[in-house]
Amino acid sequence: MRRCLIFAALALALAGPALADPPAGDAARGKRVYLADGCYECHGRVGQGGAFLGPTPSLAATELPYDAFLQQLRQPVNNMPAYVAAVLPEAQAADIYAYLKSLPGRPAPDALPAALTH
Ligand code: HEC
Repeated sequence: MRRCLIFAALALALAGPALADPPAGDAARGKRVYLADGCYECHGRVGQGGAFLGPTPSLAATELPYDAFLQQLRQPVNNMPAYVAAVLPEAQAADIYAYLKSLPGRPAPDALPAALTH
């Protein structure tokens, strides 16, 4: 029984980070792909968000887990065009993800000068 628990804990310890860690991507390459593949047309040149049949989400410093990010590319939830693997191989998706993660997100409200928040 005790041995079972140890195995379970070990399995979780091994599986946890493996699931959460995105494949290593290169942010500089990701920026080029992001611009070349037209992501910027709807999501803004620095991932600040934009418009396409309504507002499009900001992607800078995305908090989406990598799996959800990839899922959106392959099977978008709504109006976004799909990017199949033949068009956007997974290595390039990982590069874009690294690029988006490297961008500064929105500043926390308390980091803004008081004049902007009042
Ligand atoms: C023609 C416009 C358009 C283009 C081009 C486009 N997107 Fe999108 N994207 C959208 C829209 C609209 C949504 C909102 C969800 C939906 O409609 O599927 C979205 C949602 C997303 C989301 C989910 C964000 C969230 O926080 O929910 C991600 C991630 C994303 N896009 C990444 C990309 C990447 C990476 C590219 C380039 C490879 C790209 N998009 C190209 C329009 C676009």
